[in-house]
Amino acid sequence: MKKQIMDLRVTLSERVGAQCTLLKAKPVEGHLPECKPGQFAQLRVDDSGTFLRRPISIHDVEGDEISFLVQEVGKGTHWLCSLKEGDILNVVLPLGNGFTIKTQGTPLLIGGGVGVAPLLFLGKRLKEQGVKPTFLLGARTKAQLVRLDAFREVGEVLITTEDGSEGERGFVTQHSQLSMFNGRQCSIVYTCGPMPMMKAVAKMAREKGIECEASLENRMACGVGACLCCVEELADGHNHCVCTDGPVFSTAELKIDN
Ligand SMILES: Cc1cc2nc3c(=O)[nH]c(=O)nc-3n(C[C@H](O)[C@H](O)[C@H](O)COP(=O)(O)OP(=O)(O)OC[C@H]3O[C@@H](n4cnc5c(N)ncnc54)[C@H](O)[C@@H]3O)c2cc1C
Ligand code: FES
Repeated sequence: MKKQIMDLRVTLSERVGAQCTLLKAKPVEGHLPECKPGQFAQLRVDDSGTFLRRPISIHDVEGDEISFLVQEVGKGTHWLCSLKEGDILNVVLPLGNGFTIKTQGTPLLIGGGVGVAPLLFLGKRLKEQGVKPTFLLGARTKAQLVRLDAFREVGEVLITTEDGSEGERGFVTQHSQLSMFNGRQCSIVYTCGPMPMMKAVAKMAREKGIECEASLENRMACGVGACLCCVEELADGHNHCVCTDGPVFSTAELKIDN
């Protein structure tokens, strides 16, 4: 898939949850290039004190409308979360690889915090292939759980919060229904979220003999393999660019035991 640089016009900017904004946008001219779940875009931000774009996962694609779920953590994401309907957003996309779409068995999609972002697009594509996904979504507290209705339209949604304000109390890997998932009926676990969560998920999947893919969110600058600021040392002992070799990796390739 050839990456493109294009102007999008914002069609929706809606605050969701305590810290996130759902942005929807359409190309000012032409069409969106084909995008795969797990790929990301580099979004240009103005007034951020830096010329660097910000990497944001593709949250959803419907026809020529693309969605991003942005959590405000600094100047760049503040600028993105301040966009209004009709504003122009310049993007480079699609970037990186994507998740492997497996159509046998039941896939389990585990997200933490804003790491849930790429899982909606992935769940929709899986459903289109006739597979019913189960989402296991975790957050510190209820206010950080976002887009639950959208996830529920696609599959079953299980929830954990660290303070017990919604769903089961604890971490995603402690959810009681995980005992139902084993290597026979669960084809694959997909995960995105904080690194400690993804490592715990990867270990759980390994113990159950289930294949697992994780989407890494290393700090990035260029997003196209030129600056090497996103490298991750993999189990093979070599450094790999997360922006071009990832962001999705099989957890068998990752160092998950340290
Ligand atoms: C492939 C990829 C996909 C991503 N998808 C999303 C998404 O869908 N939605 C979303 O809200 N965010 C996503 N992120 C994270 C997002 O890119 C950063 O939060 C953003 O670049 C921060 O920019 P800023 O100027 O607001 O904050 P900065 O001023 O640059 O940083 C503010 C704080 O955020 C932390 N931070 C910055 N970048 C990251 C990062 N990559 N991971 C963890 N902490 C970071 C910094 O350490 C600092 O504490 C993704 C990152 C990657 C690499
Ligand atoms: S962000 Fe520049 S090489 Fe990956």
